[in-house]
Amino acid sequence: MRAKIEMVKALLDPGRRVVVLTGAGVSAESGVPTFRGRDGLWKTHRAEDLARPDAFAARPGLVWEFYHWRRGLVAGCEPGPAHHALAALERQIPNFLLITQNVDGLHARAGSRKLVEMHGSLWQVRCTACTHVREDHGDLPPLPECPACGHLLRPGVVWFGEPLTPGVLRLAVEELHRADVFLAIGTSGLVQPAASFHQLARERGAVTVEINVEATPVTGLMDFALHGRAGDILPELVAGMAG
Ligand code: NAD
Ligand code: APR
Repeated sequence: MRAKIEMVKALLDPGRRVVVLTGAGVSAESGVPTFRGRDGLWKTHRAEDLARPDAFAARPGLVWEFYHWRRGLVAGCEPGPAHHALAALERQIPNFLLITQNVDGLHARAGSRKLVEMHGSLWQVRCTACTHVREDHGDLPPLPECPACGHLLRPGVVWFGEPLTPGVLRLAVEELHRADVFLAIGTSGLVQPAASFHQLARERGAVTVEINVEATPVTGLMDFALHGRAGDILPELVAGMAG
């Protein structure tokens, strides 16, 4: 493991283009539940009832209740060593992009700025009828209404069956095609399109690295697999970097 960590560390050179994909695992050590792990949200909640546009149309109160609960939970969580290490990595690598599937906002709170939140944010709300969108960190009523038009607001997240925000996928593909190094951290590799990012990076020559507590369906397709906690491995990877 030590030798593999040193090899990956050597790849993280300021002259290289680095793209990082993160999933729920990077926030697990901060106390944010993952989706598919032992205590994952989709073990006790049905994604079909809570994370689909048709579910929101049928039962907005139930879906909002789920998101109010998640906002409250995440508001009490702090970025951990994995988030801080990635923010430090960004400061060392001029050509860097962090793409996260997480909606918790912890990467931004740790200082990451070259950041794409591809599934949106728990801290954004948008109108179901007009173009009103805003950041909102406060308490919301059970069924919040749009201040502009009075229609129902919805969480600013991407649900199953919805397209990503226009431009997000194009940017990700462009950067993956130019990457020298691609890291997939704390993601089960089961949700598209993120689950294909390693292929996009690899087909143009990037070295691919997985960091996860366990093997995933993509482990065998990566050049390096570092198995352990993101909060242990990432600080080791950035330790001693210049600047
Ligand atoms: P998809 O699952 O590939 O998702 C479409 C878009 O939504 C993608 O951009 C993806 O990144 C995003 N996305 C997916 N799940 C999300 C979530 N929970 N939160 C935020 N963003 C999310 O497309 P699809 O056509 O809806 O489904 C494809 C496959 O996923 C199907 O085989 C379907 O059976 C399965 N699925 C599983 C569940 C589940 O986990 N219970 C729910 C819905 C769909
Ligand atoms: N360090 C590294 N990896 C970890 C840690 C940790 N401390 N804890 C858990 N993991 C790994 C698990 O082994 C698992 O592979 O994180 C992964 C979490 O997987 P999922 O729960 O499936 O989360 P994710 O891949 O982000 O899910 C993708 O699915 O439902 C949607 O919108 C949701 O964005 C999410 C998407």
